[in-house]
Amino acid sequence: MPVIARAFFFVVLLAVVIGGAVYAVASRRVGRKYDVPPPPIGRATSPDEIARGGRLFRTNCLGCHAGAPDDAVPGAYTDAASGPAQRRPIGGRVTGTPDFMGEIWAPNLTADRDTGIATFSDGDLARLLRSGIRRDGRYAAAMPRFGRLGDADVAALIGFLRSTDSLVSPVTHWVPRPGLGVAGTLALAFAAGVDIRGEEHVAMPPRGRTAAYGRYLAVAVYACVDCHTEGFSSTDEKLQSPTLLAGGQFHRTPNGETIYSTNLTPDPETGLAARSTADLARLLTTGVGVDGLVTRSPMPVFRNIDDAEADALFVYLRSVPSVARRNPAPPRERPVPDAPPERLFVTLGCVVCHGDHGPQRALLKLAARKPLAEIAAYLRHPEARDPQSQMPTYAAVLDDAAALRLASWLRATDGGARP
Ligand code: HEC
Ligand code: HEC
Ligand code: HEC
Repeated sequence: MPVIARAFFFVVLLAVVIGGAVYAVASRRVGRKYDVPPPPIGRATSPDEIARGGRLFRTNCLGCHAGAPDDAVPGAYTDAASGPAQRRPIGGRVTGTPDFMGEIWAPNLTADRDTGIATFSDGDLARLLRSGIRRDGRYAAAMPRFGRLGDADVAALIGFLRSTDSLVSPVTHWVPRPGLGVAGTLALAFAAGVDIRGEEHVAMPPRGRTAAYGRYLAVAVYACVDCHTEGFSSTDEKLQSPTLLAGGQFHRTPNGETIYSTNLTPDPETGLAARSTADLARLLTTGVGVDGLVTRSPMPVFRNIDDAEADALFVYLRSVPSVARRNPAPPRERPVPDAPPERLFVTLGCVVCHGDHGPQRALLKLAARKPLAEIAAYLRHPEARDPQSQMPTYAAVLDDAAALRLASWLRATDGGARP
């Protein structure tokens, strides 16, 4: 073997050996069993607390555990008799995660005995939320941590999962365990880390229209602080950051655009544009601001935030130090209803979710074959059909005529695919 080839051979061999060892450590980290006692939290039983748990569940859990809207499973939707049919948490493939992670499946959380969580104890559920430890003692690497949720909110969530609410009534549906790829295992073991810290008790401020409760919501429940503070550090570090909530965290959209989170500090020039709590409430729950500007994904539409919570968030955001900082956001255009539909598709943010590489591309192609009036009505009020819809409520920026024009363009172009 020539010297160069031999050297190359050894380098490759070395890489394989080291790679293998690193992978072995990583899978051990992700795959080992942990002996963590469950925190002493039981289910809440009062109707108010169960309702609170339902809102927490719809905001923080349903998106992943309901799975894809297109697989037909009997009982996947609640009966239309009790309002718009909603997709139950029957489990399914989690979309929107990078392909290299492997196949991430979220299990069935309905009260089914065999395929759901009917046989889980309250402690099993509380421990999962606090420490990320599954019932079998392994680390739930593919599920986010909810370690900062206060005891009362954890109890409310468990109370809801144990309730007779139609959303969680039993549906038999088996879902595979997540199959993490090599890269996914490495990423979770080293980049995301295995974090099983979990306090026995997590206090939370009394619920009310106060800065303290607003801070709790922004940190522990809705992750505003994580997304609106620049950097990839921990939430603790972000709370100490001189640029707390000044925005600038960037997100790459599937079509390669970079979107920066907004400055939410009270700075008059560059800060929070919402002038009142009503403005903020509307923006958070519909995805459209008073100025008619649509917030683009990944900013979630918080369909379950109520007025009291919006007030608390507003008071808190007004209480943080002002930071003058303009983030290099790509310009957001105010949508003009009589603009050409292909322009609206961009300015209304549709392209981020339904564009060529967007996560909901296929869905829009299918939907584009539906009757015109149905598509148009859906665009103005998607929450009328799916109360949790992450699609903004476009009614304020699309009148009936504009919605119809956009809908006919979608039909003519196979969901915007053909020019
Ligand atoms: C980002 C997607 C995502 C979100 C959000 C999410 N989950 Fe999960 N969940 C998963 C995945 C994936 C698994 C499987 C994890 C694994 O086995 O590593 C899982 C597992 C579970 C399990 C089964 C654990 C076990 O012991 O086997 C329960 C119960 C659960 N989640 C409840 C919840 C609740 C309650 C919430 C909201 C507070 C929630 N999940 C939010 C993705 C998610
Ligand atoms: C997953 C990340 C993420 C989370 C969580 C998040 N945001 Fe955002 N937010 C963003 C991004 C990104 C933008 C910029 C959107 C754009 O440029 O279209 C944004 C924009 C905003 C805006 C400006 C909208 C406008 O039209 O001017 C406000 C206000 C806001 N977010 C408040 C909040 C609050 C309050 C919370 C918590 C309740 C929150 N955000 C949680 C990512 C996030
Ligand atoms: C934040 C991501 C997001 C944005 C932005 C978005 N959508 Fe959607 N869209 C979805 C999701 C997710 C669904 C699936 C149903 C649901 O959750 O409401 C959907 C559903 C639809 C449907 C109906 C599908 C059906 O089954 O009937 C149409 C039509 C549609 N979107 C068109 C649009 C148009 C046009 C725009 C811009 C004006 C837009 N969407 C903006 C995520 C988005």
